[in-house]
Amino acid sequence: MWQKAAKVNEVAEGGAKVVEINNQPIALFKVEGAFYAIDNVCHHRGGPLGEGALDGTVVTCPWHAWNYDVTTGECQTVPGVKQKRFPVKVEGEDILVDA
Ligand code: FES
Repeated sequence: MWQKAAKVNEVAEGGAKVVEINNQPIALFKVEGAFYAIDNVCHHRGGPLGEGALDGTVVTCPWHAWNYDVTTGECQTVPGVKQKRFPVKVEGEDILVDA
């Protein structure tokens, strides 16, 4: 179900914002004008991915530095591990997430 997650101006280019939808924390990222949403809770030990550094489409978990591609949710540190990814769309000034 599509739900409002944030305003477009709340997520900076190359940055992130953590939002809560249905009591689950979701990390929103903006890369080259496009928005991506993945589970904020790192598969490893629960680190906050939305607080990690973003390099291109790859975010580094701030706790133990696992890398994830935010466009797919795929972990680059441990092949086969994948963060849940959510569809994102923009309507006017709103970022909507299908969660
Ligand atoms: S909790 Fe994310 S790398 Fe360990």
